[in-house]
Amino acid sequence: MKAKLTANKKFTIGKIDNRIYGSFIEHLGRAVYNGIYEPTHPTADDMGFRQDVLELIQKLNVPIVRYPGGNFVSGYCWEDGTGDKSKRPKKIDMAWKTIESNQVGVDEFQEWAKRANTEVMMAVNLGTRGVTEAQQCVEYCNGTMDSYYANLRRENGFEEPFNFKLWCLGNEMDGPWQIGHKTADEYGRLALEAGKVMKWTDPSIELVACGSSSIGMPTYGEWEYTVLNHTYDVVDYLSLHLYFNNTKDDSAKFLGDAEYMDDFIEDIVAVCDTVKAKKHSNKTINLSFDEWNVWYRAVGDKHGDGRWTEAPHLLEEVYNFEDAVLVGTLLSSFQNHCDRVKVACLAQLVNVIAPVMTENGGKAWAQTIFYPFMYASNYGRGTTLQTIKETEYYECNGKQIPYLYGSVVDNEERGELVVFVANRSLEESMELELCLENYGNYKLVEHVELYHDDLKAINDKDEQRVLPVNREIEENSSTVSLKKHSWNMLRFKY
Ligand code: AHR
Repeated sequence: MKAKLTANKKFTIGKIDNRIYGSFIEHLGRAVYNGIYEPTHPTADDMGFRQDVLELIQKLNVPIVRYPGGNFVSGYCWEDGTGDKSKRPKKIDMAWKTIESNQVGVDEFQEWAKRANTEVMMAVNLGTRGVTEAQQCVEYCNGTMDSYYANLRRENGFEEPFNFKLWCLGNEMDGPWQIGHKTADEYGRLALEAGKVMKWTDPSIELVACGSSSIGMPTYGEWEYTVLNHTYDVVDYLSLHLYFNNTKDDSAKFLGDAEYMDDFIEDIVAVCDTVKAKKHSNKTINLSFDEWNVWYRAVGDKHGDGRWTEAPHLLEEVYNFEDAVLVGTLLSSFQNHCDRVKVACLAQLVNVIAPVMTENGGKAWAQTIFYPFMYASNYGRGTTLQTIKETEYYECNGKQIPYLYGSVVDNEERGELVVFVANRSLEESMELELCLENYGNYKLVEHVELYHDDLKAINDKDEQRVLPVNREIEENSSTVSLKKHSWNMLRFKY
């Protein structure tokens, strides 16, 4: 099959906010304990953080990590994770039915973030708690004044503020499973009042209001509209969450699912701008896609109920090759919507629906989805160009899905044009002609291909079956060949 992709230096979508390559660590299962933190592990550093895990995370070049939840945050007391570790309370976490030792809290996590070379996107509890505790958390983390909570941080050994710049006002408050679930009006009022005093405490922070917890929620659309009606003046972003499934084992449909991501983003942009118009506001609310991934195998009680144990194996999804192809296309969707999506967090980072897996006391390894994320994050920085894609289509559930899907990013600093493309055909390879206008003499310097003949192939602790390879390149050819159901990165120097 033939396809053509045209982009022009002069026709841009916008500058990519690097925070679209963010991720997420929740106190859930083995994400924190035996994930990033395992003091008895042979690679543990002076604070108990696993170096083998840190090294893998550094390869992902994640600029921001959301913390500490997720559903967990809606019952969490942030103070429990501060100060003398020997005095911290052991509590139950109602969200995942586990025992939380509180040996890692914000004091430790901010240090881990420094070691991982990333920033913290902090979430406050608006499920069981409210305005006061949210304000006090900002004061503890960012306060520079001579006041109780800022001084408590100093007493705990942190003279300098943590300076977290991005804050989530709760998590998935539209979901009945959420501790302290609220109606849109209840949540909107609370988020406004909490956000107001959080910004009074530190005017430099940015705030994210909860959008719907998925596109399928009965209050979808209406929730966003009502919440923004309340919070428009105080918040900066609205959150989106979406997990993709392939329960029907329909690979053609599944590989086309980035189209749904596009639609979702465009729907929510429309809601944000509707409220903007209604309010005659000059301010634009942008999007924080702060939970996204493939997730459908490790679901239900068996995978989500910790049975009151510490660090149980929860939501440990094993990713296959087709998941990686979809994840690659979802990253292109963010790049193509970089004018409005400013933050996105792959949910999550370690062990829990994650690109990095560990065994207790043993190895750490990269799941299949690690690779498209690593390439997009490391090379997809700069300005996204508009593209014209001439391609054949296939039909799925009444929707026309283009076989070719992707994005083009101009990294001006490196003098590179990076094309991320998937061939979503299950049968045929694709001869892709590239027409990159106004770039003079550009030449292809790298073609990274992620391909496996078996869509269900997985990586595990013993074998990396799904691994990107560097294809041989023909420097002066304007056509590249893309294997069937493959994800590719083409890097051009100009
Ligand atoms: O990422 C796992 C869970 O999915 C999060 O805790 C929650 O916000 C979402 O429903």
